[in-house]
Amino acid sequence: MKKPLRIGLVGYGFMGRTHSNAFRKAGNFFDLDYEPVLAAVCARDAAKAKAFADNWGYQSIETDWRKLVERDDIDLIDIASPNNTHAEVAIAAAKAGKMIMCEKPLSMDGPEGVKMVKAVEKAGVPNMVWYNYRRVPAVTLAHQLIAEGRLGKIFHYRAKFLQDWTISKDLPQGGAALWRLDAKVAGSGVTGDLLAHCIDTALWLNGHISSVNAMTETFIKERKHTLTGKTQKVEIDDACTFMGRFENGSLANFESTRYARGHKALYTFEINGENASIAWDLHDLHRLQYFDYKDESKLRGWRSIHVTDGEHPYMKNWWVPGLQIGYEHSFVHQFADFVLAIGKGEKPRPSFRDALDTQYVCDAVLKSAHTNKWEKVAKAK
Ligand SMILES: NC(=O)c1ccc[n+]([C@@H]2O[C@H](COP(=O)([O-])OP(=O)(O)OC[C@H]3O[C@@H](n4cnc5c(N)ncnc54)[C@H](O)[C@@H]3O)[C@@H](O)[C@H]2O)c1
Repeated sequence: MKKPLRIGLVGYGFMGRTHSNAFRKAGNFFDLDYEPVLAAVCARDAAKAKAFADNWGYQSIETDWRKLVERDDIDLIDIASPNNTHAEVAIAAAKAGKMIMCEKPLSMDGPEGVKMVKAVEKAGVPNMVWYNYRRVPAVTLAHQLIAEGRLGKIFHYRAKFLQDWTISKDLPQGGAALWRLDAKVAGSGVTGDLLAHCIDTALWLNGHISSVNAMTETFIKERKHTLTGKTQKVEIDDACTFMGRFENGSLANFESTRYARGHKALYTFEINGENASIAWDLHDLHRLQYFDYKDESKLRGWRSIHVTDGEHPYMKNWWVPGLQIGYEHSFVHQFADFVLAIGKGEKPRPSFRDALDTQYVCDAVLKSAHTNKWEKVAKAK
């Protein structure tokens, strides 16, 4: 008989859906000691929360996250609401002894993240941040290949995350739909929203980034605010480019923007080592590009690995070799890994402390863009 894992979800938007899908699917495809129970969804609008609960099978609703956190019949709080809510909800949930899964970025900035890390570590509750790209099988395979030493010494790590949805100057800022453009809710623009993903993957694959030099730009300086109706200064970064140094001696080159016409969610990275190189592209997420200098010279070239075989990470739990999976499965994997970790008494990863390291890189990037100088990156671990 499996133990129930009673989940209380905060936020029913984009991520509320990906997480709910993961809670429902994980136990069908992975052998888990716990049975996820969709106990409650919390959102401020009761009618919308009820509609979401009915669609996804949640047993109850709450309209105030404080009530959700206080409930005795909830084991785990899942935070899928905007960035400025993460700290308050997570700290209260930790004090109430709940396990916590929190969306990225961990916090609005490093100091706020430190308070969250202290709260979960003091309470001793399992905690994890949804940096889901680690769980795309091709990215997990990249991690394995690097850990096996196949690349040798790494020289270069470059990543970019490009979108084009804020180019219109008529787009307002703020409110339920456009909170990402409001710095008071989002904390930052592309740095915390998009580069945070690239940074988390990079720290996982290639270790600590010790210093950065960045530039940011806000192309449209003023936008009407949805909540006030007034034209107000835009305080987020629309684009950010930074270079940096990893502790292992390799060089970092990162770029993100919401002004790359033609790109919707182009997250790519390429890593060059002395023996081999790796490249990955979110638009083709089930493939890993691999170049191995050890290959016979007349056959040497980039190979495109279709990451769908039973030997590939996570894939034996899905269909048959050759059949690929997609974006939503990264969340299923992450939730399954969380449940497997707590079943074994292990620490789910990335933990709040892991995610604090990403926050520190974001803080140093934004500081450098302001000071026009190289900035050192603090270390959480
Ligand atoms: N892991 C990823 O790839 C990924 C992708 C998108 C978003 N995110 C992160 O997920 C979080 C949510 O983003 P989203 O795209 O789902 O946003 P969204 O706007 O689609 O949904 C946000 C939800 O939070 C609710 N909400 C807002 N304030 C609340 C409050 N005080 N109490 C309860 N509910 C509240 C809203 O009603 C809405 O249901 C953000 O932190 C974002 O950075 C992560």
